[in-house]
Formats: sequence, C-alpha cells, structure tokens
Amino acid sequence: MLTIVRSGAALGAEVRGVDLRALDEEAFAAIRRAWLDHQVLLIRGQLLSDDDLIRFSRRFGDLDAAPIQENGRRFVEGHPEIYVVSNVIENGVAIGSLGSGEAMWHTDMSYLADPPKASVLYAIEVPARGGDTGFCTMYGAWDALPGSLQRRIEGLRVKHDGTYNSGGYVREGVTPTNDPRTSPGALHPLVYTHPETGRRGLYLGRRRNAYVEGLPLEESDALLNEIWAFATAATLTWCHHWEVGDLVLWDNRCTMHRRDAFDADSRRVMHRTQIKSDTRSGIHRPCEHEV
Ligand code: OGA
Ligand code: MN
Repeated sequence: MLTIVRSGAALGAEVRGVDLRALDEEAFAAIRRAWLDHQVLLIRGQLLSDDDLIRFSRRFGDLDAAPIQENGRRFVEGHPEIYVVSNVIENGVAIGSLGSGEAMWHTDMSYLADPPKASVLYAIEVPARGGDTGFCTMYGAWDALPGSLQRRIEGLRVKHDGTYNSGGYVREGVTPTNDPRTSPGALHPLVYTHPETGRRGLYLGRRRNAYVEGLPLEESDALLNEIWAFATAATLTWCHHWEVGDLVLWDNRCTMHRRDAFDADSRRVMHRTQIKSDTRSGIHRPCEHEV
C-alpha cells in the first residue's frame, strides 16, 4: 500500500510501501503528484542497480548527461546519465565529485541555459555520521519576502555561475574567476512561475559568483545577500540523514539543497540522475505580473 507521509517541515514527504523497480502506472502517478506537491520525496529501502535508477528516473522524462567530474572523469562506464557523488579515492583517482566537505546551498546545473527539472539521488554507501542533505523551498522563499522586496525584484535576472560547483571545486575546463560579471554562466529570471504547479518561486541557483544583471556589483551583492537571508531561513528547510537504499527525488525548479561535511576517512557513495526540463521555456518563463 503506497502511502505519503509529510515530513512536517516546510517541504518534503516520504513515500512508503513501494518498490521502484516494479511500479504500476497508478503508483507512479501518485509519486509524480506527491513530488510536485511536496517538492522533495524520500523513498527508503530500495535496492537499485544503475539500470533500475535510470529506468525509474526516465519515467519523469528524458535524462540529461551527467556533468563532468571536477577531475575530468566523465561517468560510470556505460551509463553517461549517472553522476557519482563520492569522496572515495580508488587507485589515486576520485570516483566521484564533491569530496567530503560541506556543499553549499544550490540548485543543480543552473549555470546551464536549460537546467534539469529534477534530480534523483540514491545512497549506495553512507557514513554513520555527517553527510546529511538539507533542502529548502523556493516557493516559501518567495512568500517570505516582504511585499516591497517582492516588487523590487520582479523582472530582474540573475547570472548563475558556472565556475564553481557546490563543493567549491572549479568545474572541469573552466578558468577560475571571482568576477561574477564576466564568469561563465547563464541568466535566469529571479522570480518565476513553476510550469507545472503554477506556483511562484525564487530562482537563486547558488550564492557564489551570482550577479543581478545590470546592477553595480556592490548593489547586486547587497540585494542578493538580503534575499538569501530570507531564502535559507531554518523554517523553510528540511534535512535528511541518509541510510543505504534511500532515494531522494527533488524538484530542481523550486528547491535548493546543501550537504553537511563528513569524516573524510569514511565512505559515501551516491549515484545521481538528472531529468531534463520539459520545455525550453521551463524556468525561463518570466513571471506573469499579478494585476
Ligand atoms: C547532488 C548534491 C549532495 C549530497 O547530488 O546534486 O548536491 O548530499 N548532492 O550528496
Ligand atoms: Mn546538487
């Protein structure tokens, strides 16, 4: 029996009573609906091969190719869709990205013109302590802003940096720069209407090297700092402590996530897929002004 249990926080729910390798259409539709409603879903106790993970993820749409790791390594042999998040070193080579340090608040791959609509992260090995992943709601972030700030930022666009990943590592093939006006990246509307739920949210991406188009740098930084202080308030977050076999699926259009550091000597191995946006309009569609 499939049941949906809300986290009790501002976002997130657990789906119980499913085996993701054998989901009928009705169960899948319930999961899809819950994902849109709760923004992040936790599904525990799964036993998935990479093929199973890809097959489940594909039910939401076509998959993006995984980004290249910091060290230039590309993907799991035979599975270009799988991104490995891991601190494990094998034969002197990191098998995945993000190391064991803190990963700062971010949305996946927002430095691209058309970022994925969802990411699916599956736990294969986890440390006993640390490495928890937190999520925050960008619908809640928009709602939390004072009306005057909402009015001030409607119509603005933000440059999302493609220099650093969330672990602070320079992306493969990029010359590092700390000037957000010239760093590689993509422009996205700061306020958007979610194409499937119709709800409004903020689209912040990540703080490092972010830049509000057209503003002097100091003004851009001050405005972004002001907005970020609202967006990542504890009341808007939900945090997950991982067990092996946990799968977490998030809506990458209306959430951000971060990860706690963990002991570098312990092993953490996660496999991730990323689901393409449905339309090229996706998050780019500017919000409609309310009358
Ligand atoms: C990711 C990510 C954090 C984590 O896979 O996109 O940010 O907890 N992962 O591993
Ligand atoms: Mn991420």
